[in-house]
Amino acid sequence: MQQGGGFLPYKTTTTVNLGYGLARAGKRVLVIDTDAQSNSTYSLLGTLDQEQTLFDVLTQGVRMADTIVESVGQKGLFVAPGSINLSAADLLMASAPGRERKLARALNQVKDDFDYVLIDTPPNLGVLTVNSFIACTDVIIPIALTTYALIGISILETTMQELRENLDVSLPIFGVVANLDDHTRLSTDVLSAVREHFGDMVFDTVIPRNIKVEEAHNQIACLFDYAPTSTGAIAYSKLVKEVLQRAEGN
Ligand SMILES: Nc1ncnc2c1ncn2[C@@H]1O[C@H](COP(=O)(O)OP(=O)(O)OP(=O)(O)O)[C@@H](O)[C@H]1O
Ligand SMILES: [Mg+2]
Repeated sequence: MQQGGGFLPYKTTTTVNLGYGLARAGKRVLVIDTDAQSNSTYSLLGTLDQEQTLFDVLTQGVRMADTIVESVGQKGLFVAPGSINLSAADLLMASAPGRERKLARALNQVKDDFDYVLIDTPPNLGVLTVNSFIACTDVIIPIALTTYALIGISILETTMQELRENLDVSLPIFGVVANLDDHTRLSTDVLSAVREHFGDMVFDTVIPRNIKVEEAHNQIACLFDYAPTSTGAIAYSKLVKEVLQRAEGN
């Protein structure tokens, strides 16, 4: 999943809430945290003190299966944890042979154990994001309904097109999630522009700006338990249904 603190935000929020929602729907879900900030790891485990992390998988040849742990609050939801060490990955992996495909190779060994694998990416386009693009089968693009959304989209699309050509990957877009709707004129206008640009790829569900989304994240809680009647939880559970519908046609 692409973009955040930078030009297209809400990767971690999208990953974590989809992860909870899909696991609550009975699916076995793996979240892979490729971001050195490790926000999704912290959010699902409540600590960052795992002995072995994705860093060891990518740089030391540790098996991904040996790093995976179940989330604290949700059965069926697992994490391949990130760590701050990942901030050195660009440097350490710069001359490693096959550096762009390390995550794909590691994931190959575990992917059959899961129904869904969600990869949370860093905000920048470094070796970890490129690894994520190569390892994934589809891309989910979260978009904030703010002024900069359309600039972010065009940068992301150029990048994806370059990767498709240079790395010979297809990178299909699974869906576009519009987030931070606050029913202002601006968010309505941006939503129209996003729908015009992406057509049916945009999920019908639009995520509202809702403080409960942020609170759940900060309190290491599952939004669906923390504030089940909030506008945020209701929207994310609709989004999960749409994702299941698109992926499985039911
Ligand atoms: N719908 C929402 N309403 C209110 N706050 C939200 C909503 N969605 C996300 N947030 C908050 O916005 C902040 C940024 O979101 P998030 O961490 O998902 O972005 P990110 O793309 O992962 O950023 P980074 O690139 O830094 O990893 C978080 O504090 C999150 O709780
Ligand atoms: Mg993040």
